[in-house]
Formats: sequence, structure tokens, C-alpha cells
Amino acid sequence: MTASKARAVRFDRYGGREVLYVADIDVPSPGAGEVLVEVRAAGINPGEAAIRSGALHEQFPATFPAGQGSDLAGVVVGIGSEVSGVGDFSIGDEVLGFSFARSSHATHTVVPADQLIHKPARLSWEAAGSLYVVGVTAYAAVRAVAPQPGETVAVSAAAGGVGSLVVQLLALRKVRVLGIASASNAAWLRAHGVIPVEYGDGLAQRLREAAPDGIDAFIDLFGPDYVGLAVDLGVTPERINTIISFQKAAEVGAKTEGSAEASTPAVLKEVADLVASGEVDFDVAATYPLDRVTDAFAELEQRHTHGKIVLLP
Ligand SMILES: NC(=O)c1ccc[n+]([C@@H]2O[C@H](COP(=O)([O-])OP(=O)(O)OC[C@H]3O[C@@H](n4cnc5c(N)ncnc54)[C@H](OP(=O)(O)O)[C@@H]3O)[C@@H](O)[C@H]2O)c1
Repeated sequence: MTASKARAVRFDRYGGREVLYVADIDVPSPGAGEVLVEVRAAGINPGEAAIRSGALHEQFPATFPAGQGSDLAGVVVGIGSEVSGVGDFSIGDEVLGFSFARSSHATHTVVPADQLIHKPARLSWEAAGSLYVVGVTAYAAVRAVAPQPGETVAVSAAAGGVGSLVVQLLALRKVRVLGIASASNAAWLRAHGVIPVEYGDGLAQRLREAAPDGIDAFIDLFGPDYVGLAVDLGVTPERINTIISFQKAAEVGAKTEGSAEASTPAVLKEVADLVASGEVDFDVAATYPLDRVTDAFAELEQRHTHGKIVLLP
């Protein structure tokens, strides 16, 4: 039987992590084409911190009280009308997917059925619940630079949430990958077929030495300096993709493909199957109960996480 009360992360004004709290709410009712999911795991992402701080007010304004959370995995506990045929979901099914309503950091959320897929049995709750944003973004970023076997592709923030998937998707395409990260991630990168290149002073020279025949494409997952660096290294703008430096990309003509370009059940399933089969490793850095959502974001906002941080409502 579905609980009558749910709990959800909320904030009533822009600010630091301290504005986050967990509210008691009524369990939402699934409308036409929607499914009610009891959330088992929900990943957190840097974009949520940026929205909550107000930094993205122009592009993605919040309306208060605001919820948050796009990634989710859980169990179907309610089904609205007109769902049959969309994904053939039944009560009790284990699913993963995505919310565009900033609602997954909660014990329960309603999600359009066409934003869910069945959870592969071998995918853990933690991985399933934090796969969407990083998975489809990595897929889009790799697709945007059209890497060919034997080419050399550089990736900034190569061992972060998005980066650790990007470098593995590139390696599956037989690409030579230069992974820009701190020294603490060098061993992980090497173990995944990536040539680690430490960021900081002298980076351009280290990249030139690691790729004496040139760099064919560049995927930036960290910030505007890397787009400028890619241009300086001779990468043609149409083979530079950034998921964060939109202004700099517009200046130089680079691409900006990310989650918006790949948020489909088909892409999510492709990535979920790669992780479930073990072809792609997916690391979970930490899990937190919903009540410790501020601690979860404190860890994320240090910007040195390897692996996903996941709420377990
Ligand atoms: N457009 C989209 O669709 C989209 C989707 C998802 C994310 N994003 C954005 O993409 C960015 C990355 O997201 P994420 O989830 O992968 O973040 P994350 O998991 O928090 O990873 C942050 C990474 O940044 C690296 N880093 C820190 N300082 C660096 C520096 N100076 N140079 C290079 N790397 C550095 C860290 O590496 P070390 O630990 O080695 O220092 C860490 O691996 C965020 O800004 C996020 O908002 C955009």
C-alpha cells in the first residue's frame, strides 16, 4: 500500500546549502501518462547547487518553494491513466529515469512514463539512481565530437561524474584519451586505458608532449579556460564540445551538447546496459540519507569527487 505522506527536499529562497530542508508533503498523484515512483536512490549534481544558489536564475529560474533532483531510481507504486503501452509499467516494477520537474530528491515522485526505463537487474540502486544526468551528458559530449578509432581526444575533469563515463565511452571507440585531472586520479585513469595529464601550470606543454601529432578533439567538462586551451592547441572549433562554458563556446564556435541533446529513454538504456554488463565502470563516492542532503552537497561542492554522490531516501 502506498504511504499517505512523502518527504521531499525543498528551498524557499536562493542561497547556500543551509537553505535546503526536508519537508513533509502529500504523496503526489500520478496524472495522465505519469507513474508514481517510490524513490530508492537519487543522485545529486553540480547543476542543482548552481540553481539553488541563484547563479542560473536567468536561464533556469526557480519558483518557491522549490524542489530539486533529476536523477532517480525506485519502485513503481502508482500508475496514472493512459500509461499502458508507454513502457508497460506495472506496480512493483524497478525503474530508473529522469525528472524535469526538479522533484527526485524525495521519497516519492511522479514521472512521465516516457522518462523511465526498467532497471537492469544487475544495476545497483545507487548506480541506477545517479546514472541519468552524467550518463546522457557523457553520451552527448562524446557524440558531439564524432571520435574516430585511433584519434587523440583530450578531456578536462576526466575523472569526475561526467568525465569518468566520457573517457570510458571514448576508450570503447578505440580512441587515445588524454585525461586532464589531479594526480590523485592518475591511477584510476590509467586503469581505464586513459593517459593521465595533470592540470595546473605547464598543462599545455604536457598535452603537446603527450600528443606530438596533435589533438583531434577536446571535450571540456570544467570551464572556459579549457575551451581557449583547445583552440590554442589547434583543435578545430567544431571538434570542441563543452558542457559548461557556453559563452566561451559561442565566442570560438565550439559545440555545447549535453543532457538536453540526449535525454531519451533509448540513450539512458544504452548507458545503463553498458554499466550493468560491466563494460563501463560506474563508481559511487558516497551515499547519504535524505535528511543529510546539505552534507551531500558540501561534499559535491568541493569539486574533487570521483564517483557519484547519491541520496538514499
Ligand atoms: N550541460 C550539461 O548538460 C551538463 C550536465 C552535467 C554536468 N554539467 C556540468 O559539468 C560540470 C562537471 O560535472 P560533474 O558532475 O562531472 O562534476 P563532478 O563530478 O563534481 O567533478 C568535478 C571534477 O572537476 C575536476 N576538477 C577540479 N578542478 C579542476 C581543474 N582546475 N581542471 C580540471 N578539472 C578539475 C575534479 O577533478 P580532480 O578531482 O582530479 O581535481 C573532478 O573530477 C559541472 O560544472 C556541471 O554543472 C553540465
